[in-house]
Amino acid sequence: MIYLDYAATTPVHPRALEAMLPYFRETFGNPSSIHRFGQKAESALEMAREKVAAVLHCRPDEILFTSCGSESDNLALRGGALARRKATGAAKILTAKNEHHAVSRTAEQLEKEYGFSVNWLALDEHGAVTPTSFKDSLTSETALTSVMYANNEIGTVNPIADLALFARSQNVAFHTDAVQAAAYLDVNVQTLGVDLMSLGGHKFYAPKGVGALYVRKGTGLIPHLTGGGQEFGLRAGTQNIPYIVGFAEALHLAAEERESRTAHVKPLRDHIIGQVLEIIPDSQLTGHPQNRLPNHASFVFKDVDGNFLLQLLDSAGFACSSGSACKTGNPEPSEVISSLGFSRDWALGSLRITLGMDSTPEGVESFLKTLPALVDKARKINH
Ligand SMILES: Cc1ncc(COP(=O)(O)O)c(C=O)c1O
Repeated sequence: MIYLDYAATTPVHPRALEAMLPYFRETFGNPSSIHRFGQKAESALEMAREKVAAVLHCRPDEILFTSCGSESDNLALRGGALARRKATGAAKILTAKNEHHAVSRTAEQLEKEYGFSVNWLALDEHGAVTPTSFKDSLTSETALTSVMYANNEIGTVNPIADLALFARSQNVAFHTDAVQAAAYLDVNVQTLGVDLMSLGGHKFYAPKGVGALYVRKGTGLIPHLTGGGQEFGLRAGTQNIPYIVGFAEALHLAAEERESRTAHVKPLRDHIIGQVLEIIPDSQLTGHPQNRLPNHASFVFKDVDGNFLLQLLDSAGFACSSGSACKTGNPEPSEVISSLGFSRDWALGSLRITLGMDSTPEGVESFLKTLPALVDKARKINH
């Protein structure tokens, strides 16, 4: 079986796993406890926080650990918007339809249940937010803006630093979902200029079920999990020390090995894109041709049922995706693909191939040899 779905999730890096193990066994204390078991756990927690802060170029007390990328997005959006409205009365959210549902559904809920209104940003043909549409849409009524760093379905990278700079000049908080980006792109919050940034561990070889939210000092946030005073009173709940330790180690490694990991996947990605477009009739790339995640190739094939193609690929030994993992099994075309302007006969036939540490040229060749016949088969059955 060849795994080509690293944007859905990654295996845990052996070094992250090794770093975690003592915290399941002998060093199992609760970091809030006074005794030595607690002190050891607390010291592991604070070391992990420092490690994450070093990668993000921020202060350790600007990092909150959460249970996943979705939770970080929820806390940033809901917590940030509520705090801002309380402080200034502003009640508009500025975001885009092609955000991960952890952002877009939260924005919709803020509109439906909390009295906010959402301005949906215009997107270009590659699914990127343009600085012009962003500047035209941001007003003094805007409580919070949220634009993802890199899109999970189509790989497009947004011009975050430009957008955040403008938001700051207007004194509006800027959140970015960097859940996909953190595996390959620079997540220095000073050069990006963001106020809030979400991370999720399982996209960069940390375990599933652990995330972080960067909160720039001075950014208001109303907590959604209330209880103990953990995470500076902004996210209650006893911290998951082994997972947090694994998260910090995996993020540190991702930053340290960013260039070599990129150099490994990018030529394979470019080969896939070039070959698929050449050998498969009625195929198109989705997302930006250059400005995209280095491990990410995504396509649409006309008159193909994307989910059926995934099953055929699985039977042939290849694990791919038709969009984000959360969408698999949904017969409706993905909103992200539809927002690029593809009609239904194209949009239903999406395929995402994402590479990672164990991807090899041989695996990619074998995938490229297999794919054309399977697309052909899926087309014949569709007719
Ligand atoms: C861009 C983006 N944001 C948020 C999430 C949610 O992250 P998690 O699975 O850690 O909740 C994902 C996961 O696919 C994602 O790709």
